[in-house]
Amino acid sequence: MARMRLDDLDLPVIGAPMAGGTTTPQLVAAVSAAGGLGMLAAGYQPPEALAADVLAVKELTTRPFGVNLFVLEQLDRTVLEPQVAAYRDSLAGEAERLGAPLPQPSWYGTDHLEDKLALLAAEPVAVVSFTFGCPEPAAVQRLQEAGSTVLVTATDAAEARAAAGCGADAIVLQGHEAGAHRGTHLVAATPNRYDHLALLQEVAPQTDLPLVAAGGVTTAGDTRRAQEAGAVAVQVGTALLLSPESGAGATYRAALRDDTLTETVVTRAFTGRPARALRNRFVAERDGTAPSAFPQVDQVTKPLRRAAAQAGDVGSTHLWAGIGWRAAQERPAAEIVADLAP
Ligand SMILES: Cc1cc2nc3c(=O)[nH]c(=O)nc-3n(C[C@H](O)[C@H](O)[C@H](O)COP(=O)(O)O)c2cc1C
Repeated sequence: MARMRLDDLDLPVIGAPMAGGTTTPQLVAAVSAAGGLGMLAAGYQPPEALAADVLAVKELTTRPFGVNLFVLEQLDRTVLEPQVAAYRDSLAGEAERLGAPLPQPSWYGTDHLEDKLALLAAEPVAVVSFTFGCPEPAAVQRLQEAGSTVLVTATDAAEARAAAGCGADAIVLQGHEAGAHRGTHLVAATPNRYDHLALLQEVAPQTDLPLVAAGGVTTAGDTRRAQEAGAVAVQVGTALLLSPESGAGATYRAALRDDTLTETVVTRAFTGRPARALRNRFVAERDGTAPSAFPQVDQVTKPLRRAAAQAGDVGSTHLWAGIGWRAAQERPAAEIVADLAP
């Protein structure tokens, strides 16, 4: 198949991949059918689940869509294991209260990256994007030969150069406004405070690759300003959270409309990686105490967060949200995407 160019999109709006169940095949299909580009979130998923999701989207739309993958850094276990163990111990009271286990983390996981790459080489999709780091150049080439356009997320100019260096066709520049995890290539790095316009201003003169702007996009004016600063498209996550097609559960949806939650902060408290979330009780008590170990801290806290979400306990679960969360609307994804196009 001919490889897709992002400037061929009818609408310059990419529906962000949102791992952990928030992105559904229905959301991806709705965004793509509206003329944008829907992205499945394959992070945390086993390959079989990704295969099923790819099939599900293809049954819902014939429009192009993409898949997002995590590139996990191999961390120094000797240094981090005691820190993760101490953090895990500190959560014993929370876990007991919620009736949730505190699993032991795995230090050898790769998030099934090789298997997912093999799947996507055999069952190509229009776009494959990577976050948290650069894939091997050979993996990029293999996807490109299979017909996919490859995107790599960067949060500063050095990461953008690395993305170009591994052979990416385009770069997603994620500003600090963005909901959920920062895509910083090193887990331990302290993320910068550049917004997507500042990143575009710095990176656009340094590369010929198409740039996608992510973080805090809530209006067509935001999209137009990003385009004027050199972006070919915007990538939006938070704006889609309340759409009926999103997989956000009842507790998460209620939190996004809860007037008592008044700010978002970037915290490692839930997963060990900096991520922007609504500041709730868990963040207030634990921000600054979690080690820089992803996905190990994520694995330790996951059952606890799930139990809290199931119990409607807004204070004890992760509530990923970008700075524009107040603008998220309960409307069909197609309408949201259409409204974001200039
Ligand atoms: C709930 C949620 C989950 C996310 N999961 C992923 C992911 O799996 N992979 C990824 O590359 N980006 C992920 N992101 C970040 C988005 O790609 C994007 O950078 C961000 O949503 C843009 O900022 P906004 O939320 O203000 O629109 C996620 C964002 C949210 C809100």
